[in-house]
Amino acid sequence: MQQIRATVSSEFDQVNQLIIEQLRSDVAMVENVGHYIVDAGGKRLRPLLVLLTAAALGECSGDHIKFAAVVEFIHTATLLHDDVVDLSTLRRGRPTANAEFGNAPSVLVGDFLYTRAFQLMVQLGDMAILDNMANTTNTIAEGEVLQLVRAGRTDTSEAQYLDVITRKTAILFAAGCHGAAVISGVAPAVRDALHRFGLNLGIAFQIVDDVLDYQGDPATMGKNVGDDLTEGKLTLPLIHAMRVGSPAEQAVIREAVSARSSAALEEVLAAVQHCGAIEYSRQQARKYHDQALAELEHLVDSPWRSAMQRLTHLSIDRDR
Ligand code: IPE
Ligand code: IPE
Ligand code: MG
Ligand code: MG
Repeated sequence: MQQIRATVSSEFDQVNQLIIEQLRSDVAMVENVGHYIVDAGGKRLRPLLVLLTAAALGECSGDHIKFAAVVEFIHTATLLHDDVVDLSTLRRGRPTANAEFGNAPSVLVGDFLYTRAFQLMVQLGDMAILDNMANTTNTIAEGEVLQLVRAGRTDTSEAQYLDVITRKTAILFAAGCHGAAVISGVAPAVRDALHRFGLNLGIAFQIVDDVLDYQGDPATMGKNVGDDLTEGKLTLPLIHAMRVGSPAEQAVIREAVSARSSAALEEVLAAVQHCGAIEYSRQQARKYHDQALAELEHLVDSPWRSAMQRLTHLSIDRDR
């Protein structure tokens, strides 16, 4: 990750500086909660993608830097909201904002970040970007609602799962790359390829996130494992286990998901591992990773395109 960042290091620093500047509010609670989550770090993958895309297309401008901050603000807003909805207690190696300040401040400061992102976008003055980001944030909201209504059910199909993760996660990766291309003024064919690159990368990223929810190390990830089970979320490892697992394995999963409890996490994990569902999920992530890489062939070779390739690889080969 260090090597990847080094290819756009001064721009990356400018994005972080802008993020801090734009947290400014004369309402103390806004700054407290805002800084609490922003200062905890996070990988800053999405703004990095914006910068790398811009540089790979020729030049990373001030507008790209602003847009990168917009994308990270939207991402951060979704995290504040998501942790309330998911009843999560650990994020970026710290208690979640909802655990620290309560649900109401998390939701409201999430709204602040969302709307600040739109204020910044208006400054960019590009209707194509505003249009795409309005649709993107709307789709993310739908994705989270869709997931909510499916919680606790074990009849979710792989296609329905892919629809949810495309909406809640992948669409923002796509929008970051798409927006960078719009600002660069490239041909529609290249812009659309970059959108598809981001979409496939985002799907791969979320599948691996769902695998890590069973396999990861909380200390490294900065998030708890087993959260998806507590939420009754049928993610890809469980969807596959429900297809190929033994009747007993399926029963373990069905009970845990409908009870929305991680009490049987060990048994669920054993079932998932025994029937090859982790391997299957990783294979699927690899498939989307490959499709993402194929789209990068639309760009000329450069250190930034190589960095995008490395980032794609890292998004499936990661432990945090
Ligand atoms: C977490 O995203 C939410 C998902 C889409 C899985 P990241 O893993 O990029 O979160 P941070 O920003 O690095 O904390
Ligand atoms: C993250 O979904 C997607 C959004 C925040 C929109 P998850 O709930 O799967 O991600 P984590 O595991 O909490 O980071
Ligand atoms: Mg969550
Ligand atoms: Mg998760």
